[in-house]
Amino acid sequence: MKIDIISIFPRLFEPFLSESVLGKAGSRGLVNIKVTDLRPFAEDKHNTTDDTPYGGGGGMVMRPAPLVKAVENLKNGGRPRVILTTPQGKLFNQKLAQEFAQAEQLIIICGRYRGVDERVRQLVVTDSVSIGDYVLGGGELPAMMITEAVVRLIPGVVGNEDCIRADSFTSGLLEYPNYTRPEEFMGLSVPTVLTSGNHAEVGRWRRRESLLRTRTLRPDLFEKIELTKEDRKLLES
Ligand code: 6GU
Repeated sequence: MKIDIISIFPRLFEPFLSESVLGKAGSRGLVNIKVTDLRPFAEDKHNTTDDTPYGGGGGMVMRPAPLVKAVENLKNGGRPRVILTTPQGKLFNQKLAQEFAQAEQLIIICGRYRGVDERVRQLVVTDSVSIGDYVLGGGELPAMMITEAVVRLIPGVVGNEDCIRADSFTSGLLEYPNYTRPEEFMGLSVPTVLTSGNHAEVGRWRRRESLLRTRTLRPDLFEKIELTKEDRKLLES
C-alpha cells in the first residue's frame, strides 16, 4: 500500500513516521508512506499556495492549481482514495479506516484552517474527512491519525491479530479494563477472576466490563449493538 501526504509542513511528519508502528511498517516494506511538500507545485515565483477568499472575510484559502497538480503527479495510475482533511468532512471512524485500508493508494491533502478552494474537492477529492467536532489549524494531525489508524489494519503490521479483534470499535464496544503485574498496587488489587486461570470466566468478566463501560461512557455506541441473551444475563448479574 502507498500513502501520500500533501502538506505545506512536511517536516512535521518526520519523527511520527519513523518511530513505533509506522516506522516499523515502513522499514519492513508493508507500507510506503511519502510526504510531499506542496510548495514546489505553486507556479508563481513566490511559491504561494494560498490566497485571500473571493467575497472577502479574513484568512487565506489554499489555491486550487498547486493541489490539483500535486495530486495528479502522485497518482500511481490506479484509482486512489483522495482524502481531504477538513472540519466539513465525514466523521472518521474505524469503519472508514477499514475501507481506506483496502485501497492500493491513499493521497491525503492536509487542508489549512480556512480550507481549500472548493474546486479541489470537485475535481480530485473522493473523501472529505473530519476527525471530530473541534477546529484545528490544519490537517497535519488528522492526516497522521488517519495514517496510523489505517496502517495498523494492514495484515502483518500489528504483531498480535487478537489485539485488533479486541480493539474498541472493531467489535462496536469499548475495550475491557486491563491489568499487569504487580497484583497489588497502592492498595488496589487486580480483580481475582483475572488470576484464576479460568478462561471462560475471564471471557465473561471482560464481556460484562465492555458492555458496562460502553453503556455508561458511550450510550450512542451501546444503542447500536445487538445484545445476545448471554449479554443480557451478564448485565443483570
Ligand atoms: Cl480534518 N482539519 C481541521 N483543520 N480541523 C479539524 C479536522 C480536520 N477535524 C476536526 N477538526
